[in-house]
Amino acid sequence: MARARGKVILTGEHAVVYGLPALACGLERGASAQVKRGASSLTIQGVRVAEDSETFAAFLELCDSLQLTPCSVEVSLEMPAGVGLGASAAIGVSIARALVGADERSPRVLEAAERWERVFHGKPSGIDAACAFAGGCIRFSKATGWTRVRLGAPLQLAVAVAGPPSSTKAMVDEVGRFRERNPGRFQENLEAIGALVNNAERCLEAGDWRGLGTLLDYNQMLLASWFLSTPEIEACCHAARRAGALGAKLTGAGGGGCVIALPGDQGADPIIDAWTAAGYTCFVSDVLSD
Ligand code: MEV
Repeated sequence: MARARGKVILTGEHAVVYGLPALACGLERGASAQVKRGASSLTIQGVRVAEDSETFAAFLELCDSLQLTPCSVEVSLEMPAGVGLGASAAIGVSIARALVGADERSPRVLEAAERWERVFHGKPSGIDAACAFAGGCIRFSKATGWTRVRLGAPLQLAVAVAGPPSSTKAMVDEVGRFRERNPGRFQENLEAIGALVNNAERCLEAGDWRGLGTLLDYNQMLLASWFLSTPEIEACCHAARRAGALGAKLTGAGGGGCVIALPGDQGADPIIDAWTAAGYTCFVSDVLSD
């Protein structure tokens, strides 16, 4: 069984599309894939993917990248899709790993998963595939790819599905429209996000969760000013902060999807209790240093 991780972006989503660095963490949950005997087919969560679908086109791209003839692959997914947790990248990396066999750290796996991702998301930065591939905590930029961030203390995150699924491509286009209308404000925010990503990396290395929490809140404000937040995301962030979170923000494309919260001294339980009482699907994940 070949595995790959889901992801959350800690800081820097969207800015990463414009060449700035971002920080992301692999989740304990992810996807796993297995090559089966039989003719070319892709099955995800027990449902056979139609051959005229976008997903099957992505599968063919992935096989082509690995210079392999498509075969039969079965995938299972341990998290919701379309909510900013990198499900498609986790599926792509797990399939590529299953196809290449033992050599699962090969750069070919990441290249194949990037081809798979481009079918769904147009021109993704590549952070989702890199995080599904690398796990742990990473710094990523389009120019330099991923490098591992060594955590100064164990890190746990609470994750809630705040809103309806949202399209990454649509939200990236939304930010592009904001940039056209308000180039000055866009640039100011971009630079502010770049600075806070660098500071957040120092906090991660030092295990300074109070500092990190403040930066997560600040990043949320900047993302909201690009119209990426929703009433559900704001409510979810406030509920987490009231329950003791050191910081909370949307993660991924926004416009719906997930919120992450950094637990404070009381741990993740009060946050999970508050979210559960408010009706959100939520879970806790340790960030494993892969
Ligand atoms: C999506 O998980 C992250 C975005 O920054 C898009 C991308 O990096 O391609 C919104």
